[in-house]
Amino acid sequence: MNFILTDSYDQMSETAAEFLTEELNRKPSAVFALPTGSTPIGTYRALARLNKEGKVDFSQGNFFNVDEYVGLSRESEQGYYHFLYENLYRHVNVDLEKTHVPDGMAENPEQAAEQYEQMIDGLGGLDAAFLGIGRNGHIGFNEPADSLHYATYCVTLTQSTIEANARFFRNEGEVPKQALTIGMGTILKAKKIILVADGDDKEEAIHRLWEDTSLRTDFPVSFLRLHPDVTIITTIK
Ligand code: GLP
Repeated sequence: MNFILTDSYDQMSETAAEFLTEELNRKPSAVFALPTGSTPIGTYRALARLNKEGKVDFSQGNFFNVDEYVGLSRESEQGYYHFLYENLYRHVNVDLEKTHVPDGMAENPEQAAEQYEQMIDGLGGLDAAFLGIGRNGHIGFNEPADSLHYATYCVTLTQSTIEANARFFRNEGEVPKQALTIGMGTILKAKKIILVADGDDKEEAIHRLWEDTSLRTDFPVSFLRLHPDVTIITTIK
């Protein structure tokens, strides 16, 4: 696991954008998983700038949301597809037909999860998984639990995650209790993993990842240790 320590949020964002740009330039039709949250916003801003400067082309790339709440549609303002549309897709020359999100409105979420996994597999799996991290060590919405899931699945969110994400809703009660997320296997099968972390509330998780080499299902991010090409870009010392 490679840690890159940056001095500021902007530097972290630029560094992450460089990694993603390099990947797209190497393989224009690359398949990406992309996260939501406050942390990657700067990276998306940097990517939009690089795209305008002609340094990266999104037109052939395939982009999959890492996760989506159950009960929210592509159009929902609090939904994760909407987030990526607002923060990235509408600013770059992406082909929207090649942007995907788990179907949060599906009558059968398990089936929607399976279809999502098949769609990723059908394109040869992820070339790069770009991730944030939850304060409890979740990646995507792979929450701490007795066991982890290999493929995309429907997860019941922990109280800690509901509280952390309540800021995007009118109140905590409005945060959906379930979500669809790509699984730990989907992530670990990606050829490259890039994770960004910033802010006091992530300090404990990043220090633990740095110091503790054990693999624990109650700390899902620890499983990234199994992967040969992981870069953690962080402002946390
Ligand atoms: C949510 C998302 C994660 C993201 C996390 C951290 O829980 N499901 O994919 O990594 O938030 O978000 P933030 O960067 O806002 O702290």
